[in-house]
Amino acid sequence: MNMAHTISSALYIISAAILSLNLGCATQNSIRRVVLLEKDWQFINEEVANAQIPETDTANWETVSVPHDWAIKGPFDKKIDAQVVRVVQNLEKKAHPRPGRTGALPHIGVGWYRKSFTLPEFKTGKKAILVFDGAMSDAHVYLNGKKVGNWPSGYNYFNFDISKYIQEGENLLAVRLENLSFSSRWYPGAGIYRKVQIIVKDEVSFQQWGTFITTPFIYDDLAMVNIKSTVSGDNLKVVTEIRDADGKPVATHSSDKMDGNQIEQYIEVYTPKLWSPETPYLYTAHSKLYQGTELKDELVTRFGIRSVVYDRNKGMVLNGKVIKFKGVCLHHDQGPLGTAVNRSALRRQISIMKDMGCNAIRSSHNMPSQEQLELCDEMGILFMAESFDEWVKPKIPNGYNRWFKDWAEKDIVNLVRATRNHPCIVMWSAGNEVPDQSTEEGPQLVKWLQDIFHREDPTRPVTVGMDQVRSVITNGFGTIVDIPGFNYRVHLYDEAYEKLPQGLILGAETASTVSSRGIYKFPVEKLDWKKWDDLQCSSYDMVCCRWSNLPEDDFVLQDDKDWVIGEFVWTGFDYLGEPTPYFAEWPSRSSYFGICDLAGLPKDRYYLYRSRWNTKDETLHILPHWNWEGREGETTPVFVYSNYDSAELFVNGISQGVQKKSSVTKQNRYRLMWMNVKYEPGIVKVIAFDDKGKAIAEKEIRTASKPHHIQLSADRDVIVADGKELSYVTVSVVDQNGIPCPTATNRLNFKVSGAGKFKAVCNGDATSLEMFHLPTMKAFSGKLVVLVQSSEDAGKIELEVKGDGLETAKIKIASTKAAEPHPN
Ligand code: GAL
Repeated sequence: MNMAHTISSALYIISAAILSLNLGCATQNSIRRVVLLEKDWQFINEEVANAQIPETDTANWETVSVPHDWAIKGPFDKKIDAQVVRVVQNLEKKAHPRPGRTGALPHIGVGWYRKSFTLPEFKTGKKAILVFDGAMSDAHVYLNGKKVGNWPSGYNYFNFDISKYIQEGENLLAVRLENLSFSSRWYPGAGIYRKVQIIVKDEVSFQQWGTFITTPFIYDDLAMVNIKSTVSGDNLKVVTEIRDADGKPVATHSSDKMDGNQIEQYIEVYTPKLWSPETPYLYTAHSKLYQGTELKDELVTRFGIRSVVYDRNKGMVLNGKVIKFKGVCLHHDQGPLGTAVNRSALRRQISIMKDMGCNAIRSSHNMPSQEQLELCDEMGILFMAESFDEWVKPKIPNGYNRWFKDWAEKDIVNLVRATRNHPCIVMWSAGNEVPDQSTEEGPQLVKWLQDIFHREDPTRPVTVGMDQVRSVITNGFGTIVDIPGFNYRVHLYDEAYEKLPQGLILGAETASTVSSRGIYKFPVEKLDWKKWDDLQCSSYDMVCCRWSNLPEDDFVLQDDKDWVIGEFVWTGFDYLGEPTPYFAEWPSRSSYFGICDLAGLPKDRYYLYRSRWNTKDETLHILPHWNWEGREGETTPVFVYSNYDSAELFVNGISQGVQKKSSVTKQNRYRLMWMNVKYEPGIVKVIAFDDKGKAIAEKEIRTASKPHHIQLSADRDVIVADGKELSYVTVSVVDQNGIPCPTATNRLNFKVSGAGKFKAVCNGDATSLEMFHLPTMKAFSGKLVVLVQSSEDAGKIELEVKGDGLETAKIKIASTKAAEPHPN
């Protein structure tokens, strides 16, 4: 493999299209260039740690594109990172083996990446900044054989000034990463899983992440925009033009008043359009830096105008209106793609969450990708950006505790500076269930961290996801945090509210109810811990964990207490690793907590949240499925999740009575439940009533006969031909009448032809050891999802799905060239 690539073949120059994406870059013609190091990296994964830069012979190295996750192609193996640990947070008394805890994928070990490039635009008097959005983990970066720097946290953004290491002609970048076993509680991924860029600019320029935009005053007719630009050089002037979402200039301002290394501007924007989840309106600030009359640098920063106040008498107030977080926690992996960032995957995830009525995401338990924040800005999602899962006291021996003392401040600084202009971020989190909550040092630590957040960003409050509620309400820890955030412990909300001074409580992490899509267990009963032999959980949504609760335990607090400002459900999607309650069993390698499964297919719980959170659209969902051969005559409860308060249920035309939401139990308040239905095959129908008792909507499900053919439906039938965009095709096994077969497990095979390729497949079964990147998989509960990826050539893409004894199905997707280079 020829390692020499010129900049034009191996690198991508980000041009005008990216400008609007707040990446702080300018047009190709201008003085600032942003170069994306994307293609033709060389990679090798070594079992044995090698501290030296490997020899130049790269014959055995694989050519990969970045973002890249070296472990996602597996195979799954229970011996990988088979942790034997006692999890205090889970109230465990002794250590258990946990084979699937970090996903049983080969992420442990050393990975080396190399990338050759030339940088013709770099000349004397220029600066080159190498920016990583995240590399898992403990990155040691070398350029032309010299050490450039090190960044331990695998989740954070970091940059190095590489000006003095760049040489004319060929340059060789090498990155060493290492993941230790016992270093994570979930699948962390492995490799350079987020983008890498080089920014070439003048020495006299805007500093990397040195621009901070806030909107201190907002009235109906006027908003004051404050821009602090950190700059290097003297005799400088900043001229900023603010443009609206259509690119129309709405204000201009110029200042040459230096205060230290900052120039501050106050700019008036008349009749501002405010950013909110419903109206995610975005402005851009186009700033030019002049030295004398010479233009030295240009920077475009996207921002929103919005006010967020946390008021002890009202709660969270966004643009003058009280709202609550209807939020989900999300780990960073994208199921079958692993952790390699993909904008289509993130966009689909956010769309699914928004349809549920979700308005907020917590990036548990680490720094989010820039792409996720950009999409949340654009699509209207409030964001809690989290920093750490560990401080000083370990949860696992090789976790962040190793680095905390030396790196915590640097990590917070980079988190805040790299992301603070995103209007979606409305709160920082300094930690999740850190054991330091109840140590003597705990209160000092939280104060130290919170002060760093405040110093870097005085406009947003800080929370900590606290689980040791009794300790934090007595030891001062809970008093210090701006917003007390509790993980579970709903029975202590009232006491905490009384004893803590803030007057507000946030459900920083809630529910942790477990279920497997399309799987139901009998008898139906409320349990706080239960395992079954097939290693699946019941979708009647009645089982949680010893430390957690059912969705309704949170709903009552959210609905009845003004001082509870919302919740972040654990979790929106299933994720790789942490297969509670089957942490000790095998095979089980991904979570059961998700409202959607690992493929993003909604479980029943999706409709329970939707019935409450999505206040615009109708929700009328029946569970379980109605294929219970062998259960004839047996009690098979039927639940309906709906925004309507009452409904009548019919089985084969026979009424099972009317159910009305009531406060008999917490479940009765939010679910319609017919507990005594006897199973007989046929039709289950529900008719919902409005407030006046008039029939307003109906829905039915039917018993399916045997699998007959395959139905395909794509989330997007047109994608951009950039080699990155994805269409997610849901594959359903149906009977001869097109009724979904809810128990089908047919093996399916996939072929993609034309201007695209088969990327991955996922069926959402936490116990499956089939690999995501191979074009075959068994359906789980009658469904799976195939990811089809565009190539760089526009054209037609066809996916063909075959299955034994099933009629073959095909679907066409078009891929088109974007009008402008696409910013994936
Ligand atoms: C919480 C923890 C999460 C996850 C969850 C599972 O205690 O913060 O990371 O482990 O439990 O219920």
